[in-house]
Amino acid sequence: MPTFRPDLAEIPVYKPGRTPEDVRRDSGLESVAKLASNECPYDPFPAVVEAVGRAAASVNRYPDNGTHALRAAVAAFLDVQPDQIWLGGGSNELMFVTALAVGGPGTSAVYADPSFGLYRIATQVALADGIEVPLDADHRHDLEAMLAAIRPDTSVVYLCNPNNPTGTHVGADQVTAFVEAVPPDMLVVIDEAYYEFATAPDFASALPLARQRENVVVAHTFSKAYGLAGLRVGYFAGSAATLAQLRRIQLPFSVSTLAQVAALEAIKHQDLVAERMAANQTGLMAVEAGLRDRGIAFAASQTNFVYVRPPIGAAECFEALQERGVIVRDVGGAVRVTVGTVEENQRMLEALDAVLA
Ligand SMILES: Cc1ncc(COP(=O)(O)O)c(C=O)c1O
Repeated sequence: MPTFRPDLAEIPVYKPGRTPEDVRRDSGLESVAKLASNECPYDPFPAVVEAVGRAAASVNRYPDNGTHALRAAVAAFLDVQPDQIWLGGGSNELMFVTALAVGGPGTSAVYADPSFGLYRIATQVALADGIEVPLDADHRHDLEAMLAAIRPDTSVVYLCNPNNPTGTHVGADQVTAFVEAVPPDMLVVIDEAYYEFATAPDFASALPLARQRENVVVAHTFSKAYGLAGLRVGYFAGSAATLAQLRRIQLPFSVSTLAQVAALEAIKHQDLVAERMAANQTGLMAVEAGLRDRGIAFAASQTNFVYVRPPIGAAECFEALQERGVIVRDVGGAVRVTVGTVEENQRMLEALDAVLA
């Protein structure tokens, strides 16, 4: 056996949702609804599939490491300069690289609990101390407690807005006040993987803060609203100087040619994105109404998933739904259910009826 880092065993391993193939194999069921990974339940846009098909003929060459065309398109979309955009193989990659770039022994990172699991993993890989601040009683970020938790050695604060796995948000004014109170030499990563889904009047992207402040970056992804999870592409928007520093340790060529081509095409189709956001909203309302009718507790969501507190144990509920071909996520004390198609949402609610009967 080779020698490994002594702390390797303590680093939590990211647990992806179970695949439909796995569950089909185990359960013997023919059809399975995967509502575990907050993916878009619809096919990619037809023009994206065509563009990827055409680009497949050139994959003998490395991708454009500078991601020039896509950066220019994202920058134009957000009304920033191309050097204020940093692309990665999913926003996951960028957060991982960021943790390494600002972390190291003697540093710490502040993030909420429960929140997106990658913050914890990346912090530990970066040999930094994780300071986990419980959400408030409404399952929202407790921004005051997060500010109070910041230490002199804190180098990064993660704010997931809206938050995964709870689907809750904090208002734009609160985010601004929070950012203003964080010392300017600490990086604030505002992870807005689900911002396109949010409809609350007081929600707004923190992009204006990222434009103004060198210590604020906003993370967006093509995995959710654009339905490109399988291709892995996301970006940070922020100060050019800050992004240039973070980029230094990114692996070369991490955004594949097909991912760049797909995102470049997808961003042109804001009409289709809007249609899908509307369909999600209809589905979300149906899921939340179904849960309310059944007297099942949940957190009102601003995303494409719902944090459900079933009256039985979350682990038991997760297993029993899976036996009925509905894959959700056990997030410890709750199950997280992705909004799917109309049929999938109905199937999930009926499976819940059977499980809770
Ligand atoms: C809060 C949050 N941030 C980031 C990501 C990852 O996005 P990407 O697919 O761009 O790596 C996810 C995916 O589930 C997420 O929930």
